[in-house]
Amino acid sequence: MSEMPITSQWLSALPKAELHLHIDGSLQASRLLQLAAKNSVQVPYASVEEVEAAYDFTDLQSFLDLYYLGASVLQDESDFYHLMMDYLLKCKEQNVVHAEIMVEPQTYLPNGVSFSTMMSGFKRAITEAQDSWSQSVLLILSFLRHLSEEDALRTLAQAAPFRDQFVAIGLASSELAHPPEKFERLYKTAREQGYLAVAHAGEEGPPGYVWGALDVLQVDRIDHGVRSIEDADLMSRLVATQVPLTVCPLSNIRLRVFDQMADHNILELLDQGLRVTVNSDDPAYFGGYMNENFMAMEAELGLTRTQALQLAKNSFTASFLSEDLIARYIDQVDQFT
Ligand code: ADE
Ligand code: ZN
Repeated sequence: MSEMPITSQWLSALPKAELHLHIDGSLQASRLLQLAAKNSVQVPYASVEEVEAAYDFTDLQSFLDLYYLGASVLQDESDFYHLMMDYLLKCKEQNVVHAEIMVEPQTYLPNGVSFSTMMSGFKRAITEAQDSWSQSVLLILSFLRHLSEEDALRTLAQAAPFRDQFVAIGLASSELAHPPEKFERLYKTAREQGYLAVAHAGEEGPPGYVWGALDVLQVDRIDHGVRSIEDADLMSRLVATQVPLTVCPLSNIRLRVFDQMADHNILELLDQGLRVTVNSDDPAYFGGYMNENFMAMEAELGLTRTQALQLAKNSFTASFLSEDLIARYIDQVDQFT
């Protein structure tokens, strides 16, 4: 007998974790304009429609140019509080019970924002969400790979007073021409300090960048990694080790990694036995949060309930939560019908 199709109601009730989310990528157009006006930051847009008209990307770099411009409106503690709270309210609405969120201090520090301003706004929102609806959150200290390794090492040193607020480090921004090997020393230093590690690799970059992230940076998880499918040995390695991939379907379409959702390889990766998860990356810019990503997969790839349940379980097993908590969340998914 064939399965019942996925409905948005069913999906909304399914407990899920999000493991690949840039907090600046959750800056909604209306919030961007409000903060630009409040902080007297010049942006070349007068309305939400004008901001959204700029969401017409040709590749990763064309998106990053707008993404960094957007983040320049964030200035004081309350701005960071609202940015985080807007996203956590979405988690509540979509039953994303656990989120591992990338924070990129190198975006704000040159604008005169201090590490403690940013962290205290984020922490205030996270504490409120934990207290009022038991939202689970871990933070990832993510570095910008178009900048130097020295800059990243200086930023890692600045993060020292906030060490206990981050579970892992990450690596994002322009991938091509900035291979993982550029950050070998950074990852070694951070791992010595007890950080876990993730890195973007194999989004626009070739499978060699995924090898570099695994072997040189020794990451615990790969962000994106969809181009791994071009290398059979790499696929075998990912199946054998179960190093997770945090895949972002809508992002990959909007940044033209695939021409259309029907061409996306996420279900092929899942079928081949990789530990794949679904994530939104930069939901304000790419047309959807977690549930919209699942629904697009349902509409264009024929995602089944069995596959969605597997992806939800993967989101917890691939997380940096304790084994106990993972087991508890897996039980919740097992009891979900
Ligand atoms: N920063 C925000 N989104 C990103 C993406 N999809 N790839 C690399 N860096 C990013
Ligand atoms: Zn990303």
